[in-house]
Amino acid sequence: MAKENISDAPMPVHVGVIMDGNGRWAKKRGLPRKFGHREGAKTFRKIVRHAKAIGIKYITFYAFSTENWKRPDDEVQAIMKLFDKYLDELDDFLKEHVRIRFIGDRSMLSESLQAKMKRSEALSKDYDIMTLVLAINYGGRDEITNAVKVIAQEVKEGKLEISDIDDRLVQSRLYTEDIPDVDLIIRPSGEQRLSNFLIWQSAYAEYYFTDILWPDFSKKDLEKACEVYKERHRRFGGV
Ligand code: IPE
Ligand code: IPE
Ligand code: MG
Repeated sequence: MAKENISDAPMPVHVGVIMDGNGRWAKKRGLPRKFGHREGAKTFRKIVRHAKAIGIKYITFYAFSTENWKRPDDEVQAIMKLFDKYLDELDDFLKEHVRIRFIGDRSMLSESLQAKMKRSEALSKDYDIMTLVLAINYGGRDEITNAVKVIAQEVKEGKLEISDIDDRLVQSRLYTEDIPDVDLIIRPSGEQRLSNFLIWQSAYAEYYFTDILWPDFSKKDLEKACEVYKERHRRFGGV
């Protein structure tokens, strides 16, 4: 494709962001890890705004994985406290008509967090400027396991036949039931892995890796990732 045509190629509809590198950002400055999470939360707000400005329709941020409970208790507590604060600040996005969705197993989160999540989702359910998805206590394997349980129960109750089970049905039982597959996954921090993020939904995703640590991730980096995406040739198994 000629260079001048690249900008006309379609933007990714759904972008996934693995917000990684907060701890290393803090360590480089001789600060405790939680300072990195605080700085990363600021980057999150900036990137949500910019995603909306450049016309991204769906953006999912990986904020806390089902494996992140393995971290020291004080770090987990600091992250949970940040979520509590930032969920209040999501009201700013509501004013801008951003639809908010959460994916992951909420049952392990505090009552206060769960109530705030429910509230933002309910207030924003009809907004369609952009959908902002937050993956909190999310794991792709956990999500698929949960879907299998739901489907098994439906078969047991006679609501479904085994022959009804196809990939669309499985998709409809995932946390992302109303969200399209992810087109582009961005991972900063230099790691090149999914770490259990959207493993079903990324079957045909494109990847963009950068060594920049998440707190330093800029609007320009988001634009660069989208430009790189536009240059990719997606074939979905065809020619
Ligand atoms: C990502 O940053 C934030 C969470 C996983 C909650 P990290 O805390 O993993 O940062 P590094 O990878 O240690 O630098
Ligand atoms: C992935 O980052 C999870 C989030 C960003 C929320 P991790 O830092 O937990 O991933 P690993 O341990 O390097 O694979
Ligand atoms: Mg990490």
